[in-house]
Amino acid sequence: MKMFVEFVIFIHVSQHVSAVDMYEGDQFVLMHCQFPTSELVDPTVMWSRSDLSPSTVHQRQQEGDELKNQNQLYSGRTSMMPDALETGDLSLNLTELQLSDSGTYTCSVRGFGFQQRVTDVQLQVKERFPSWAKVLLVLLVLLIVAGGLLVHFRHYFMSGYQVEVDSGVESVQLPCKTTVCLPVDAKVQWKNSKDWMIHVYENGSDQPEEQFYRYKGRTEIKRNLLKPGDLSLTLKYPTDEERGACSCTVYSREGNILMKKVVMLQVKVPQVEVDSEVESVQLPCKTTVHLPEDVRVEWRLSSYTFKVHVYQNGSDQPEKQQNRYKGRTEMKRNLLETGDLSLTLKYPTDLDKKTFTCTVYSREGNILMKKDVKLQVKDCKVEVEEGVESVQLPFRTIGDLLEDATVWWRDSINRKVHKYENCSDQPEEQDGFYRGRTEIKEDLLKTGDFSLTLKHPTVRDTGTYVCRISGRNIWRKKTVLLKVKKRTQDKDKTVDIRNRSSSTDPTPLMADQSV
Ligand SMILES: *[C@@H]1O[C@H](CO)[C@@H](O)[C@H](O)[C@H]1NC(C)=O
Repeated sequence: MKMFVEFVIFIHVSQHVSAVDMYEGDQFVLMHCQFPTSELVDPTVMWSRSDLSPSTVHQRQQEGDELKNQNQLYSGRTSMMPDALETGDLSLNLTELQLSDSGTYTCSVRGFGFQQRVTDVQLQVKERFPSWAKVLLVLLVLLIVAGGLLVHFRHYFMSGYQVEVDSGVESVQLPCKTTVCLPVDAKVQWKNSKDWMIHVYENGSDQPEEQFYRYKGRTEIKRNLLKPGDLSLTLKYPTDEERGACSCTVYSREGNILMKKVVMLQVKVPQVEVDSEVESVQLPCKTTVHLPEDVRVEWRLSSYTFKVHVYQNGSDQPEKQQNRYKGRTEMKRNLLETGDLSLTLKYPTDLDKKTFTCTVYSREGNILMKKDVKLQVKDCKVEVEEGVESVQLPFRTIGDLLEDATVWWRDSINRKVHKYENCSDQPEEQDGFYRGRTEIKEDLLKTGDFSLTLKHPTVRDTGTYVCRISGRNIWRKKTVLLKVKKRTQDKDKTVDIRNRSSSTDPTPLMADQSV
């Protein structure tokens, strides 16, 4: 079935427009769109069809999907990757295809002070019936061919390779070999488990424009299609985000799958774990490579493009840092002599629960070393019992905080818990449920203590609270899980008894219990 689906999808990519042909009733189609959204402040991705009203097909924002204005035609049939805004893979998955889905889909991206139409996808959904017999026939032929190939080269199909390397190695080879001669005009595609194109080889040459941008300049394929050959892929500086099943598929000119092989790539990444309230954490990265004076060291998040920290020409380059890391990072003083490129990150939050990549470049831009470190920040959990006077949801941070920062605390269902803007609380923007029950510190922009005090918590306050700080040069986020437990009955009784014994009521305790 999988083979069949891949066979009928025909994707033609040319710059910013792509066309996809599908049949009515097909299970799903994936419409591709890529953009480094992680570099934007408060990004929104919009898939739309201008010929419809409302035109929204799917909308994704930082908080999740926003489908209020979605056209009813698409209700329940669209999805995007959960981490789309982080990875930049903004592809739309549309399921249960209907004839009326034919049209031009526009993928556009908006951010603070930014808007761009990224790509148009022309989807054509054809009636299935007229081509019923044809498709069945093709399927049958395909099955026979596939079956034949499978029997003939079963060990080549079945033995799934596994390749394991340490993060930091220079390159890894993913094997893919055939014992048949493939046609000269065959097309070879290497893809990863997220459907990102690793490498394409067609018409006798590599097709770098079809590659997912993260793989650019990092892949090489052995090619010798005429002889029984070797389509193995060399991937330079493999990192954590590339782990998983990588597939090597060979198509004939007509689009039939001639062979497909899967290689599991494992990249072992060291891990650092800290509590949510620590002041700082060190992400280790050491090298024995000789570091020239004009070396450039870049720390970034492995599935993002923006920089966490940049060191170049002998000093830190804070202007190249993404806002959320400004003022929060530090590298060693004498790193050129020691080769210790470790990064100190201050006040890590759940937003930093990511894999960090340390890359060393020569002046010419060649990679001298690349290494991943995974940071685990434990969830910030606060637990209290109903009846306490107040509870504090902690959040401390540091950085070049600006006067214009806006602070927002929200709860699990996105209700407004507390807002601070223009140096004062904004109670009129608060949800009624929290009225008069919240407090934040004075001077919070100077001290960096953004903790929220919630008075008289009850079990109904149990949930997830998120604090966001945003300003021209700052962006922070922290999640706190609050659990308010019901008061246990035993406890009530204890309190009762204590009250009673200290009061003047002379009733003996025994009598009380027998009632
Ligand atoms: C698209 O969604 C369908 C239904 O949820 C799922 O079966 C399919 O695997 C998805 N396709 C991709 C490429 O994610």
